[in-house]
Amino acid sequence: MFAELVRQSRQVLGVRHFDILQDPDDGCRFVSVEVFEDRAAVDRQSALPLVGEVISAFDGLLRVAPRGSAFHVSASEPWPTPRADRSTDDQTLPYQGFAEEYDRLLGDLAVRTWQQGILAELARIGVPAGATVVDLAAGTGVGGRLLRSLDDNLTLVGLDASIEMLRQAGGSYRQLVEADLCQIPLPSGFADVTVSGFDSLNYLDGTRLGRCLGEVGRVLKPGGWLVFDYSSPHLLCQQWRDHHHTDQLADGTLHWRHRADRAGSRCVTTLTRYDQTGAVRWEEQHVQYALDAFQVHRLAESAGLRVDRVRDLHRAEFSPSASTHVWSLRKGDG
Ligand SMILES: C[S@@+](CC[C@H](N)C(=O)[O-])C[C@H]1O[C@@H](n2cnc3c(N)ncnc32)[C@H](O)[C@@H]1O
Repeated sequence: MFAELVRQSRQVLGVRHFDILQDPDDGCRFVSVEVFEDRAAVDRQSALPLVGEVISAFDGLLRVAPRGSAFHVSASEPWPTPRADRSTDDQTLPYQGFAEEYDRLLGDLAVRTWQQGILAELARIGVPAGATVVDLAAGTGVGGRLLRSLDDNLTLVGLDASIEMLRQAGGSYRQLVEADLCQIPLPSGFADVTVSGFDSLNYLDGTRLGRCLGEVGRVLKPGGWLVFDYSSPHLLCQQWRDHHHTDQLADGTLHWRHRADRAGSRCVTTLTRYDQTGAVRWEEQHVQYALDAFQVHRLAESAGLRVDRVRDLHRAEFSPSASTHVWSLRKGDG
């Protein structure tokens, strides 16, 4: 039970460290070391259902009541960052700098895409009452907010690799998980439904998309669904072959430059944020891959996910020239 509590607690957003240690000289002595980023992180961890179970079990387990000390750290030296690819100077990781502007610049379009795509498919499929839904690459929580407004009883989990994006997700999800799409730290058979909105799975090349779908197949219950929207090769490699535009912001501009890298069937987007004086505040590169429908279909089937339907975002039929497709995959019942 302690090991499971440690595992779940470490996945909670804002939990910096969580350990329960047993004294090797006295098996009845335990020390718990817990480091939280802020009060909200303490509250999120305390809300885990397993915390209640562990506390109720104390009566039978402990000879004396537990004691604790809380230390409040007001300043600290920065730790060396654990992400080896953490970038320096103006170049930041995808969705590090952009997280702050995301909702303002893309929020409305993301909402429309969810409504025409994933939400319409979920209405067709029928999501069971009280279902557990995992939003893969949840970002700032656009999908979480929409799903919650449809059914407040869903158990929503949001997963993303960008802590900066998750910080904007606020209370959209019951649980936030900072993780890669190819290594989902959730138990097997955990979810009734998984979703991934606004072309997030395009961030994975073929090998990684296969791995991600394999993880989805594991995390889903038998008969569970994965519903996602996906940008087409037509958008990423034709329409955005060489395309740029600029967003005007209150305190500067954001410049977008899309460039198709045909050999790799991928699109490299450079986002450059300038301040009012024209100085670069940050720059990010986003690489998106455009697998065709046949390749996605094959990867899904290899992961044990049957293609129930694939259609254009704006209509019930499929055409290769659509910018975005919506996929509904189902795990076998067996
Ligand atoms: C276009 S945003 C979409 C966010 C959100 N789904 C929405 O609808 O607004 C793409 C998201 O994918 C996340 N992402 C990209 N690659 C990822 C990976 N390998 N693992 C986890 N998240 C990833 C990014 O951090 C970002 O939040």
